[in-house]
Order: sequence, then structure tokens, then C-alpha cells
Amino acid sequence: MRVRFAGIELRNPILAASGTFGYGIEFEDIVSLERIGGLVTKGLSREPMAGNPAPRLIETASGMLNSIGLQNIGVQAFVEKKLPPLRKYPGCAIIANVFGYEVKDYVAVIEALNQADGIAAYEINASCPNTKHGGQVFGTDSKQLAALVDAARQAAQQRDIARPIVVKLSPNVTSIAEMARVAEQSGADALSLVNTFLGMAIDAKSRQPRIANITGGLSGPAIKPIALRMVYEAAKAVKIPVLGLGGIVTAEDAVEFLLAGATAVQVGTASYADPRAVERLVKGLEQWCTRHNIEKVAGLTGALEIVPKQQTNLRTGPSPNDGQEPSAQELSSVAESSAPRASKAKIW
Ligand SMILES: Cc1cc2nc3c(=O)[nH]c(=O)nc-3n(C[C@H](O)[C@H](O)[C@H](O)COP(=O)(O)O)c2cc1C
Repeated sequence: MRVRFAGIELRNPILAASGTFGYGIEFEDIVSLERIGGLVTKGLSREPMAGNPAPRLIETASGMLNSIGLQNIGVQAFVEKKLPPLRKYPGCAIIANVFGYEVKDYVAVIEALNQADGIAAYEINASCPNTKHGGQVFGTDSKQLAALVDAARQAAQQRDIARPIVVKLSPNVTSIAEMARVAEQSGADALSLVNTFLGMAIDAKSRQPRIANITGGLSGPAIKPIALRMVYEAAKAVKIPVLGLGGIVTAEDAVEFLLAGATAVQVGTASYADPRAVERLVKGLEQWCTRHNIEKVAGLTGALEIVPKQQTNLRTGPSPNDGQEPSAQELSSVAESSAPRASKAKIW
């Protein structure tokens, strides 16, 4: 089950995603930190942050909309209080998620983390608005993304041993392949995607937005097909490894991301429905590999098989509208494949 990415050896490719697993240590009585591949901490800023006003988290169809506003205790408190007890679990890779509103904020957080032992890598959240440049999100503007990645890389190299940087891309872009290439060319050691998709929910009766911040980030199974497509496109565009996430609930979901090109995966919103989800997926993936005679899970990365078009386009009977409308066979396969999904969706 071992995989390697950006010089880090993971005992398995299942990690907990940022913002859905606290600082990690809060989960030690619920999830065996000796079993999971690693965890990504909640986003850390240079000063503590209170986050956005409530309501800031609501359930949506097969997903969740959140506008937590990156509430956190600040990097110093993380280093002093949360990180030391995590050192009891040396086999669990601790990835510190870093954010800021200007490049210099990110650099300050990385410099503070450089002083501490027990961190495997930095995950740079590029989905934050750059307040210096009018609130535009770093990860949606290639020049700003390049400047951020370059500065983060330099800051991460100020230790005796440079720590790898994983750049977490914003999915709210037209071309994820282009942003992936920009991050790679600017010095990223790995990429992670996707972060949440901008969304909105309205209470029709009261005519009010359902979260106080009006818009929020959509996550959970609802985003999985888009996340998979983006991981596939990003992984094809770069040579550096990709960590895939977005709506992973089952071991088979994780396998799909690996086949699309991910080296490892992260599990986020699923931990809200089942706090043991990350550990459950480790076991599930082991069982899946045994059932399918997979000796090395690393062999699944990018192993998607694309069957030539003439074989996939076969239709059983004549189709009206010259093939523009779905055939009866296609409609019944949709019904079949959505049936198990609908029952899974009940947990949301
Ligand atoms: C409540 C909540 C808080 C989050 N906080 C962060 C964060 O601090 N930093 C970050 O990079 N991503 C954050 N995310 C995004 C997740 O790490 C993940 O990218 C996203 O939810 C998609 O994965 P999922 O569908 O498995 O949840 C947060 C997501 C949720 C639901």
C-alpha cells in the first residue's frame, strides 16, 4: 500500500483533507492515526482568525456548502500546542495547510513552521483572495499563482532540509491544466486538487441566503465527477505528482482518482458523515486491492484505460435524432448506476 510522492514515503495513499480533520490530534481517539497515510491540517494563518458569522455550514444534495472563513488558532499556537502530540505518530505524514491574504502572509506562516519538527510538507492553499490585488483569488490568476508558488518554495527551502510544497489549486478556473502547469513551472513539488467549488443556497420561503456569507464552497459527492475530470486533466498536464480529492466516500471512489492520475487521495466532507471515514477507506482500499489482485497500489496511478471510440459508441438499435438523444440502453445504464449512488447519498 506504500506510495511515494515529492520525496515523502506514505504507508498508504489515504490522507485526511484540510479543514475536515481539525489539526489532526483531535481525531486521535476516533481514528487510528497509526493506520492512515497522513493528514492535512486545517488552514493556518500568521494570526488566529475567528472565521465568518453563522450560519456557515449547510447540507445540500449529496454535499455540503461551507463558509467557515478559515477559522484557526494561528500558526504559533499550532506549533506550540497541536503539533507536539502528533509526533507520537511518526508514520502519519503531517502536511501543514498554509494560507494568507498576501504573499508575505504565506511566507510568514512557512517561516514559523520551518522552526518546528514533525512536518512532512506544506500544502499551499491558493484559493484565498489576494487582498493586495483587489481580492482576486491567487489560484485563478496565473501571474499571482506563479508569484505565490515561487515565494512559498523559497521560504520552504530555508531549512537544512527543504520541505516539499504541495500547491492546492482552485477549481474555479477555466483551464485547470494551465494552472497546474503554472504551479509546476514556478517550483511546486506536487499539486492537490480540488478545493471547494463556489456555490450558493437560498431559502425560498424567507427569500434569504442560507449561509450568512451568501456564497460558500461546495464539497462532497456532488462534486466528484468534476473533481475527477480536473485531476485527470491536471495529471496529464504535469510531471509532478497530484493528490486527488473531491467527494471521495468509498474505497472505489479513491481508486477512480488514482486511475485518473492521482498518486494519493484526500478524504474531506466524508468525515462529517462518518468521523472514521479516513480509516475505513484505508481498510477498504486494502480489501479492494486484494479482491482485484493488485499487488502494488502505486500501479493504479494513471492506469485509466481508454477504449477506442468505435467500440464505446455502439448502439443496440436505431436512435432518433441521429444519435443526439440517449438510446434506451444508455438510459437504463444511467438508472442502474444511479441506484446504488442514491442509497449511498442517504448519509448526506
Ligand atoms: C468545512 C470545510 C473546511 C475546509 N477548510 C479548508 C482549509 O482550511 N484549507 C483548504 O485548503 N481546504 C479546506 N477545505 C476544502 C477541503 O479540504 C477539500 O478540498 C474539499 O472539501 C473537497 O473535498 P471533499 O469533497 O472530500 O470534502 C475545507 C472544506 C470543508 C468542507
